[in-house]
Amino acid sequence: MARTRAIIFDLDGVLTDTAEFHYQAWKRLADERGLPFDRHHNQALRGVSREESLRRLLGPLKVSPAKFAAMLHRKNDYYLAMIATLTPADLAPGAADLLRDLNRANWKLAIASASRNAQQVVDRLAIRRHFAAIIDGAAVTRSKPAPDLFLEAARRLDAHPQTAIVIEDAPSGIEAARAAQMRAIAVGPDAAESPADLHITSIAELNVELAESLAADPAYGAAPTVSSNCFGPF
Ligand code: BG6
Ligand code: MG
Repeated sequence: MARTRAIIFDLDGVLTDTAEFHYQAWKRLADERGLPFDRHHNQALRGVSREESLRRLLGPLKVSPAKFAAMLHRKNDYYLAMIATLTPADLAPGAADLLRDLNRANWKLAIASASRNAQQVVDRLAIRRHFAAIIDGAAVTRSKPAPDLFLEAARRLDAHPQTAIVIEDAPSGIEAARAAQMRAIAVGPDAAESPADLHITSIAELNVELAESLAADPAYGAAPTVSSNCFGPF
């Protein structure tokens, strides 16, 4: 039987620039509370859950559970206001063609996002029809860098993890893909140093041929190793 060819997309920062919205929402909260926070601090928050993001933002500062919950709520309100402005025009350049072409070439597609707002973002972008499964932060207990979101996506696609390719912009996401024994394509500067099989600057560089050449690599379907980098860094 032919292997299922599966591609699992991260959402925020890969299919759309909502990673910037997450940053803006955390920045507003941090500024209100007088907490030091800039784009450099934000690197550590990329791809990780809302709760873990706040823990990292607070650092050694201790707050009561009630205050912690209130801060999470406030950040999410800021974020929700921002994603309410999203339209299909906010889909990353090249993404619409890529999703259409991969579907035509019989790849099975999923989204695996740590965000509990992923379903709303997907609907605002009007991309739901391209995906056989959309796994969000509410679907699993352990978020990235644990492999659970990606393993659940593979299970829903009926694909063996070792034949799935993950597309991610965050180091925690590449780590999760590795932990799931999946191939990983790193997108953008934040994951440039992460041990991926392929590094690209945006998904506009990705196409069916490139996905197929990655799948045709003899190591495809075998457990990837950290040193495996069949295309070189760029
Ligand atoms: C990830 C983002 O996709 O989702 C993180 O990269 C974010 O920045 C995480 O913290 C959780 O998102 P949300 O929408 O549930 O707060
Ligand atoms: Mg991301």
